[in-house]
Amino acid sequence: MTYQFHSPNITANHGVLADVEADLLVVTCGQDEKLSGPLQELDSAAGGLLQALLDSGSFRGRTLEAEWIYPAPVKSRRILLLGTGKADQLDPRILRRVAASAVRHARAKKLSRVCLAVNGPEAMSSSYAQQNIVDGAITGLVDSDLYKDRSKKGTVEEIAIWSAEDTAADGGLERGRQIAENINFGRWLSDEPANIMTPERVAAEVAERASALGVECEVLDEGAIRAAGMTSLLSVSQGSSVPARVLVLRYKGGDGPLLGYVGKGVTFDTGGISIKPAGDMHYMKYDMCGAAAAVSAVLALAALKAKVNVIGVVGLVENMPSGSATRPGDVIHAANGKSVEVINTDAEGRLVLADVLDLARKRGAERLVDLATLTGAIRVALGAAATGAMGAPQSWVDTVLQASSRAGERAWQLPLYPEYLDMIKSNIADLMNSGGRYAGALTAGIFLQQFVGDTPWVHLDIAGTAYTEKDSGWQMKGATGAMIRTLIELAEPTF
Ligand code: BES
Ligand code: MN
Ligand code: ZN
Repeated sequence: MTYQFHSPNITANHGVLADVEADLLVVTCGQDEKLSGPLQELDSAAGGLLQALLDSGSFRGRTLEAEWIYPAPVKSRRILLLGTGKADQLDPRILRRVAASAVRHARAKKLSRVCLAVNGPEAMSSSYAQQNIVDGAITGLVDSDLYKDRSKKGTVEEIAIWSAEDTAADGGLERGRQIAENINFGRWLSDEPANIMTPERVAAEVAERASALGVECEVLDEGAIRAAGMTSLLSVSQGSSVPARVLVLRYKGGDGPLLGYVGKGVTFDTGGISIKPAGDMHYMKYDMCGAAAAVSAVLALAALKAKVNVIGVVGLVENMPSGSATRPGDVIHAANGKSVEVINTDAEGRLVLADVLDLARKRGAERLVDLATLTGAIRVALGAAATGAMGAPQSWVDTVLQASSRAGERAWQLPLYPEYLDMIKSNIADLMNSGGRYAGALTAGIFLQQFVGDTPWVHLDIAGTAYTEKDSGWQMKGATGAMIRTLIELAEPTF
């Protein structure tokens, strides 16, 4: 079975809100804002029901606050009033959450045809606002409960994106759909359990989608990986009975510098001989979210026919303890010639990335971004609120951070001071793969830096952001697709 997701039909809509024909009309209102324009017209048509809700104080417009109005004396009969929070905080991220929560409300009530009338923030072009509304709606409808009977959930079949003017032709809707569908693909790869989504299976799924989009896809099997000298990566998978794969995607849509998106794809991380405690180990099926993000971004750029050149390079392995597993104290050699003493077999992500970062450079990447659920330490530092960013030179870090800010995905830079390199110098080899508890995200980051030479490089540690452990109004717990939008925005800025 390959990936299948049935997206709702997306259409543009404008005109008088009271005349919109849908099962549900969603309108939004900012915090403590007055009704105006089309919303005020709708209120008049609805006999002042919206204004009454505001006057009563039961609806204040706080972010994702929701009030139903039914039956309403308008064509759609059902109105959902959704809060968008403070106007100066309304960014693409909030916009996506509002759209996602709107369609989830609709689905919960088995309403199939939804009209979203979201007032975008002034600072955002209407095309970019619409892109994010569609993105939020399509990503918002995908859940992680893959092996349950979901037939009773209801389906949202049609989403009309309403705007005051006729903007159907400006491309924002279609862009949002392409981005969201590829994000959903990456989330699906991540949500599938590790017994299903093995390295080989990931490679097969990505290869199939790549060929449909005309993206070149090379799959290196273990022979090819060994021949390429990637023994650091293989030292992680050698304890597992499922073979490793390395995937190289290549999309050529222009003639700018070649971007390299590199991902950690540990399909399951037990920790190896330095085994993890049982409590949260099941979440380690998400240890391939970096790889999923890298490939999803390349596929999305191809679907968008972006005028850029990009390769996606991901290392897919399973980290298991066994009689053939790497031992603490073993010394291995990375493809770039550096020797590494494996202090802790649970610090495996950097051993995988060392070789795939090097491969990306050998395949011509001139700018690098790697993504990895790399350290528990970044979760301690930033929680789920932001992705950790590190890199050099600062100008490239700034470029990536600016893309993340435009995309509405939080990233926070952390330093790579030389002291962190001292912490991972080994007695027996060039490097150790662990520097202990302190500055754990940063000793990991500076380890990676030893494999990128002088190529501009940013490392994104998504261990806190790649998946959530609890449901929210806008998405079910599971893979989030974190930083895919940033990678797309970085390659092809929207504004
Ligand atoms: N995959 C983990 C990091 C992780 C932890 C991701 C929790 C998501 C949630 C990584 O391979 C790991 O185990 N890192 C170790 C490194 C340490 C042994 C130096 C860690 O962070 O504890
Ligand atoms: Mn680990
Ligand atoms: Zn890991």
